[in-house]
Amino acid sequence: MIDGSPVRTLARADGVLGEVVLRRRGDVVELVVDGVFTMDSAHTTTERDLATLALERLDGPALRVAVGGLGLGYTAATLLADPRVALLELVELDAVLVDWLGRGLLPGLPAAAVEAVGARLRVHVEDVLTAIPRLGPASVDAVLLDVDNGPGFLVHPDNARVYRQGFLAAAAGVLRPGGVLAVWSSHPAPDLARVLNAAVGACEEVLTTVERDGRRLVYATYLATRPPGRR
Ligand SMILES: C[S@@+](CC[C@H](N)C(=O)[O-])C[C@H]1O[C@@H](n2cnc3c(N)ncnc32)[C@H](O)[C@@H]1O
Repeated sequence: MIDGSPVRTLARADGVLGEVVLRRRGDVVELVVDGVFTMDSAHTTTERDLATLALERLDGPALRVAVGGLGLGYTAATLLADPRVALLELVELDAVLVDWLGRGLLPGLPAAAVEAVGARLRVHVEDVLTAIPRLGPASVDAVLLDVDNGPGFLVHPDNARVYRQGFLAAAAGVLRPGGVLAVWSSHPAPDLARVLNAAVGACEEVLTTVERDGRRLVYATYLATRPPGRR
């Protein structure tokens, strides 16, 4: 049920994809982009799982991880909570969200948390389509992508390329051998799994059922591992 608590606007600004609004409904903070509800702080299991599932598949004391899509900051915060993550390359298209991160407005990654991580966080205000390939060959242990709803229900048509072979192969190229490319999707997307298999390496699908407003929704996370011997 959508609760009847009054809605209070916390921040509002013009972003690259339209007006961006951060608002509070009771205890819950919501993000609305261009009039479309994007996410809230009440249901963040799958955003956090995106980080946890990728980290579970990685060894090593000093991991360098890239994440595409800041949102409310839950995936990034989960990565930074793991001391093995020595450097997080955070790529966000919208400068408005990065500004709100700096002002401590994002519930997933509040000001004190950002201060605590210090130099372990590097922020790029850029499209993942250009920022991820520029990280350099075999330079990161994982790339995590949560920039849209997945290939079947795009919010921003330009993001279609994020789920295609060309970009995913380029993203695979920045992974160290044995590295993981993880993609969040609001729905099972078997075609995406096939593309990841071809572009990166063996791809696993993890499905999670979430109850939301009385509906049962099945979210998917795809995790493709670059073969250990391939450079
Ligand atoms: C659903 S939110 C990400 C949620 C995030 N995982 C969390 O834990 O809060 C998607 C984010 O991706 C950003 N975004 C959308 N398209 C992008 C792109 N092509 N490159 C980089 N960021 C993008 C949006 O501005 C938004 O901040």
